[in-house]
Amino acid sequence: MSRSAHPAGPRHADVLPEGHYSAPPADLNALDPKVWAQTVTRTPDGVVTVGGREVTELAEEFGTPAYFLDETDFRARARAWRTAFGHDADVFYAGKAFLSRAVVRWLHEEGLNLDVCSGGELATALSAGMPADRIAFHGNNKSTDEITKAIESGVGRIVLDSFQEIVRVAHIAESLGKRQRVQIRVTVGVEAHTHEFIATAHEDQKFGIALADGQAAEAVRRALALDGLELVGIHSHIGSQIFDMAGFEVAARRVVKLLAEVRDEHGVELPEIDLGGGLGIAYTSEDDPREPHEIAKALSEIVTRECEAARLGTPRISVEPGRAIVGPTAFTLYEVGTIKPLDGLRTYVSVDGGMSDNIRTALYDAEYSVALVSRASDAEPMLARVVGKHCESGDIVVRDAFLPADLAPGDLIAVPATGAYCRSMASNYNHALRPPVVAVRDGEARTIVRRETEEDLLRLDVG
Ligand code: LLP
Repeated sequence: MSRSAHPAGPRHADVLPEGHYSAPPADLNALDPKVWAQTVTRTPDGVVTVGGREVTELAEEFGTPAYFLDETDFRARARAWRTAFGHDADVFYAGKAFLSRAVVRWLHEEGLNLDVCSGGELATALSAGMPADRIAFHGNNKSTDEITKAIESGVGRIVLDSFQEIVRVAHIAESLGKRQRVQIRVTVGVEAHTHEFIATAHEDQKFGIALADGQAAEAVRRALALDGLELVGIHSHIGSQIFDMAGFEVAARRVVKLLAEVRDEHGVELPEIDLGGGLGIAYTSEDDPREPHEIAKALSEIVTRECEAARLGTPRISVEPGRAIVGPTAFTLYEVGTIKPLDGLRTYVSVDGGMSDNIRTALYDAEYSVALVSRASDAEPMLARVVGKHCESGDIVVRDAFLPADLAPGDLIAVPATGAYCRSMASNYNHALRPPVVAVRDGEARTIVRRETEEDLLRLDVG
């Protein structure tokens, strides 16, 4: 590691060559439906609306920064996944993308199941009335307390992630006089084409039990031998923000091969296969995600074909989309505070939030879009970098985007596709107060997660 001084952060000197940036969009006022929630539109007077409410009045009522979530769009996407997978498959919404009690109720009403990965997510799900048997519990290091609560509450399945956990869950189930339905999470050796940090099925990472070297087969052997466990299937999750179905194809083929080996060795056909989540969404107009019905068709064809080849009955398929359901349904609304033009380079636009409400740009080099939403503008496009208010130069929300050159302090700008992994990964860095999530539907807006207050911060600080 270099110890020589460098100018305050690795990203300072990224002066990119001429022609690096894609051309500005033809119309800066246009809102690409691929990246904006379903009901978002710009009125003739130029103000953007969601669910029939103008962002200017929403900003007055709820303040900025804030996440506005299009409930109609959320329900439509949840339903589209449910319908696409039909009655022979299950859709588990991945709560880590964004979870609140309102969301749990919508999922319940729309017939989806829920994947949780912590005691906190489990508590949220149960407190909003999600039936426990529709909950799957994940995690690579679940605590004894979490396992106990999951079993006591009657969760539909626990996804076992390690050899230790096989014994741990069996032991706790037995001591509670229960037999817990479980799946085993395997790593199939696929590296999905995505950012290195969020690809999970290659073997050199913390999740799951490798198929390689007969490890997964050994895990099955051990799980089948324990009275406290009812092994119902195999789970695989290969990564995030994936567009290419080839990774799922390889994963399904390898999981089915394991099912065939289990049948040959134990005479048992495990009835379930879960292919995880990870389906990509459009963050910018360049992204082309697949529709749920195409994904459902592709996955079911792959599994059916592989099972026929292995002379296995087709297992019940489940999937765990998080981002693909909630991601596109929300945008973050910010107020512009300061503007700093750097001649010939770019213009820094500082907003009233930043890496505390969207860490994804700093963490994964994620790309986002942005638009001026409080008014329309005919001004020339300017190359902008939208940055936050944190004491850190890597505090970037949108690295490169075009905004109108007449942008001014007090204007409202919005970053679309922030429904997933933004509020759920929000922090209190610099003692920022985490923004609210406001659900908007049919002209009505209501807070579903309120804005944090200084009292909230001070309540944790016991002095
Ligand atoms: N199932 C399992 C077992 C997972 O680990 C995940 C995501 C999902 C489902 C849902 O994946 P989705 O469909 O939402 O991509 N914080 C990162 C993503 C990490 C996701 C971890 N697991 C991000 O902001 O992109």
